[in-house]
Amino acid sequence: MCGIIGYVGARPAEEILLAGLRKLEYRGYDSAGLSVLADGTIRAVRAVGNLDHLEAALAQEDALVPPATIGIAHTRWATHGAVSEQNAHPLCDAEGRIHVVVNGIVENYVGLRDRLTAAGATFSSQTDAEVIAQLIASEYDGDLAATVQHALGQLDGFFAFVAMALDEPDVLVGARRECPLVIGRGTDESFVASAVPAFLAHTRSTQLIENGEIVVLRAGEVEIRDANGAPVERELLEITWDADTAEKGGYETFMLKEIHDQADALAETINDRTVRRDGVDLAEECFDESLLEGIERVVFVACGTAYHAGLMGRYAIEEWAELPVEVDVASEYRYRNPLVGPRDLVVGISQSGETADTLGAMRVARERGARVVALTNVMGSQATRECDGVLYTRAGLEIGVAATKTFVAQLAVVYLLALRLAELRGTLSAERRAELVAALRRLPQNVEELLDGLDEQVDQISQWCWQANFFLYIGRHAGVPIALEGALKLKEISYISTDAYAAGEMKHGPIAMLDEHTPVVAVATTSPVLTKVVNNIQEVAARGAKVIAMTTAGDHTVDAHVKATVPVPASDPMLEPLLAVIPLQLLAYKIAMRRGLNPDQPRNLAKTVTVE
Ligand code: M6R
Repeated sequence: MCGIIGYVGARPAEEILLAGLRKLEYRGYDSAGLSVLADGTIRAVRAVGNLDHLEAALAQEDALVPPATIGIAHTRWATHGAVSEQNAHPLCDAEGRIHVVVNGIVENYVGLRDRLTAAGATFSSQTDAEVIAQLIASEYDGDLAATVQHALGQLDGFFAFVAMALDEPDVLVGARRECPLVIGRGTDESFVASAVPAFLAHTRSTQLIENGEIVVLRAGEVEIRDANGAPVERELLEITWDADTAEKGGYETFMLKEIHDQADALAETINDRTVRRDGVDLAEECFDESLLEGIERVVFVACGTAYHAGLMGRYAIEEWAELPVEVDVASEYRYRNPLVGPRDLVVGISQSGETADTLGAMRVARERGARVVALTNVMGSQATRECDGVLYTRAGLEIGVAATKTFVAQLAVVYLLALRLAELRGTLSAERRAELVAALRRLPQNVEELLDGLDEQVDQISQWCWQANFFLYIGRHAGVPIALEGALKLKEISYISTDAYAAGEMKHGPIAMLDEHTPVVAVATTSPVLTKVVNNIQEVAARGAKVIAMTTAGDHTVDAHVKATVPVPASDPMLEPLLAVIPLQLLAYKIAMRRGLNPDQPRNLAKTVTVE
């Protein structure tokens, strides 16, 4: 996830672009850069680190005279290519005539780069973004809009970009496929950016760009064209949000925004690893698949929410790849005497990549000769420096302290790992793998469908249970990690006491806690043990507890025994629990809001726990 902005008008572009980037910095801050054009010269400045570094780099170089009034800028959340100045945007062709800023992923960039290289292009970065610049440059004939349109047809993936050409000093061209891009309409000036806050200080008048469209911007003039190049009429929208709400994409909190960002997080994490119909590819510069060869066990070490992702990994890897799996909380693992060695793959899961205990557990495993992999969301984090390979989630920056979109992205990666191991070990047929790949690729759409109307549905449930002082969460099989995660979400942002159990444990103690005041949240999606979950639901209902069940759409087995159901779209039984966690995040959120609490900043918690 990156932030991009373009400006063309009459005022000095650099200041406007920098101020815009500040508003987009939540989208990533691995590196930043800008290119501005005046008097036949492009000034391009890039720097590793946050915007302060870019400002310092700009101060060291001579500004253009007269100042440029057109330019593009970028703040990066690295996906392809290391965090380096070379890979920072804007990227350009070898002659520096076409500059681009890109958000997203071009899935077929390797093939395009090979084709362009064969035709004589030389590349200076490892990014897919440079492929866009070089592709446009290779076809450019003086009409940037037409060239971008043609290039867009050759790109697979999901992205948004803005291009600028030295030979056309009054025009910017933006293109959008899946990733966000919006237009800002000013008087005698035009803006294009990943999000409205980037230009809200200058105009509240916006236009949306739909998938497959391009936009041609000049000072005060905007033309939107469809995939065939035909002009499109698009209404103007007046933004009424205040600046604070705008930064949250119109949502009242970052947590709510991040809950709604989950389809994107999944698409970014899954899509380019599932290009093959019947398999997963995990190889990239930071991950050599030979790490997976000949392993006899997988061990997940992690804390909090990330630990729950590890638990899901156990179900998926044992079932699909038939490989033993151990999961431990990192703070315990590091002080045990873990029997681990070269045939073990130890995966440290950490959103931040900085959690002290997870790093400690990874070190212990590495010292004992295990192959250690970091599964993290943050490029360049400590975990990525203390391992043999990195598997990234691509959820973008998460600001809310309660993990939401990074959790579903972690689940996606453990599923991908399980499927890759299954293929390497020959434990699933090509047909079954193809089914699972298709189901994984459908997840972002499943999430979109689920979120449609979910807010209201969960709000109604929260209305009758928000004052309860204890909640019990239950599930079986792949529903167990989700029950644990749902309970953690509620306790961390609502300060309500919760417990979560494998439903089969009910009669061994927890059932004693139940009475007619206790809400019981059950994960009752499709599963080989659904009938057993139904039995457990009946048992708790018989004690007067009020059951809220996460079910699979179309299945009404539990309806008669529960107070409320939240159906999630049908998928594979192993994947439906990923969908079921979303209503649970939202339930925790709604209850916190009803209690007048700020879910973005729960008491006593920090986003990153760098001490043990
Ligand atoms: O950055 P990490 O994934 O290593 O963080 C681990 C936990 O601290 C984290 O998941 C914590 O439990 C979250 N606040 C849960 O929402």
